[in-house]
Amino acid sequence: MTQPWTLEDLVKDARGRVTEIAAEELHHGTSRQEMVLLDVREAEETAGGTLEGAVHLPRGLLELRVQEHVARRDTPVVVYCGGGNRSALAADVLLKMGYTRVRSLAGGFERWRRLGLPITGGAGVRPPPGKKLGWDEVRREFAIVARCVPVLGEGERALVYMDHAASTHAPSSVLGAYTEFVAREYANIHRGTHHLSRKATERFEECYGIIARHVGAELQRGTICFTSNTTQAIDLCAHVLAERPGLVVTTEMEHHSNELPHRRRGPTLRARVTDEGELDLGHLEELLRGNRVKLVAVTAGSNVTGVMPDLRRVARLAHEHGALVLVDAAQALARMPIDVRDLDDPEHIDFLAGAGHKAYAPFGAGFLYGPRALLSEVPPYIPGGGTASRVTASGAEYLPAPDRHHGGTPNIAGVVGMARALAFLQAIGMEEVREHEVRLTERMLRGLRELGGITLYGPPDAHKRLGVATFNVDGVSDLLTAAVLSEEGAIAVRNGRFCSHLYMDKLLAARAKAAGGEVPTGAVRASVGLYNDESDVDRLLEYVRRVRDRQWRGRYQVKGDVVSAEFAGRCADQWMEATKD
Ligand SMILES: Cc1ncc(COP(=O)(O)O)c(C=O)c1O
Repeated sequence: MTQPWTLEDLVKDARGRVTEIAAEELHHGTSRQEMVLLDVREAEETAGGTLEGAVHLPRGLLELRVQEHVARRDTPVVVYCGGGNRSALAADVLLKMGYTRVRSLAGGFERWRRLGLPITGGAGVRPPPGKKLGWDEVRREFAIVARCVPVLGEGERALVYMDHAASTHAPSSVLGAYTEFVAREYANIHRGTHHLSRKATERFEECYGIIARHVGAELQRGTICFTSNTTQAIDLCAHVLAERPGLVVTTEMEHHSNELPHRRRGPTLRARVTDEGELDLGHLEELLRGNRVKLVAVTAGSNVTGVMPDLRRVARLAHEHGALVLVDAAQALARMPIDVRDLDDPEHIDFLAGAGHKAYAPFGAGFLYGPRALLSEVPPYIPGGGTASRVTASGAEYLPAPDRHHGGTPNIAGVVGMARALAFLQAIGMEEVREHEVRLTERMLRGLRELGGITLYGPPDAHKRLGVATFNVDGVSDLLTAAVLSEEGAIAVRNGRFCSHLYMDKLLAARAKAAGGEVPTGAVRASVGLYNDESDVDRLLEYVRRVRDRQWRGRYQVKGDVVSAEFAGRCADQWMEATKD
């Protein structure tokens, strides 16, 4: 009986047929113009960087998807992996599939890196000075674009992720900077004399400037306090203003996170929205005229309709009536240019809250920008380590902001990741990011309208909203629609009432009244991001059409908790899964 083959046997056998190329030759010699460079490593391996111009196609998807990337079989192809074994096996498969000019990179990515040859990602993709990152480069940064998920009866299919309004995936350069920090620079900040602590402190300190730049802030009179998410940043703002006399005015379009923290601290009023979901500025002015208002708390962009209130007018109105302005930038941070402006400008923004997990960074870090003096005059948000300059038996002298509000060790790596993600967005250019969103949103809104049998919420003009489309397929529940999109189309959207119950109640009721039907319990939300393209929007439209035509193939069963008072605060308590017949 012959011995079973080992990995070494398989690789040796493949190498008998496959030609290798040395890293030096690939770098210096051959023209890369026509060549396709295939990176066959797993997604997580690419976090440390990739070769410039490489297409990421994990080994497991090679046979299935190679044609999408290498249309002609006589195209020169170089395959690489971590150390050169998997790429030899992959190249051998390509030869068998009829690709005639395939080579495998000897020693793989590891040898390339050891030789100090250029890589992108990992330590950070930075375009050359004066050049912006192109959309192909941007898309290549996201391992998630190669992710497949199971679909009913069809094995697996490439995922279309359209849940960016909930959280965004991090690009490999951001993950690279994050893991590099955790692996090689991890140390607590401020209190250390040792080298690593000083390095970590340096990295942490430079994040203030990067975040400030992203929102147009200066850090003399303004400052930035780090939090764990947007909700906590808003809560910190509510804490800062809690003892001031006056009311807080929120709006009917706010996420619960920009409503409940204010309610907890005192009386609030709400500015109305129109049936289209836009902020009624006349009503806001009425509230400001008729009450002593200390703060207007408004979103820069709704997580439901994407509606972007006119922040300049809101700020001017608020300041004219002696109120401060807090902007919830959870959605807007990664989607549109933001400028808080100088504190002397009548249209400036006083406080701004945001978080990394909706701006292409890992979970766990957020921030509040605000006036240094105001943030420094109130008691610490959480008194504790790092907040005081001197503690005696009976008292404590607290540091000014931001340290005053950083009780305990902050999420140092999270802050590094958040700053790196904002730098990534800046490298693309926020005007370009916005244009990309408008283009895809226009396609999505037009497509949904043209389908018919769809109820869309919010204004029809993509220029008036962030890249979010919320809709119902008439006569089909949001739950079922989202389930079919996921289980049959591999499309990730969100459904329910999006932690914005007041706004959703109003939008759903207004539409049902206009159309004369029942009020739906929720809606479906598709939200685009940096790595979506037209084909993603088209897949969404195709599967919404199937739902409209009642052409789903599975039998769907409700899973999860029954909606009850106990769970009423959550955004969605149920989901659906398909079962095969
Ligand atoms: C508009 C808006 N504000 C606030 C939040 C809360 O953000 P976080 O999860 O970062 O606390 C969200 C989250 O979806 C949001 O969309």
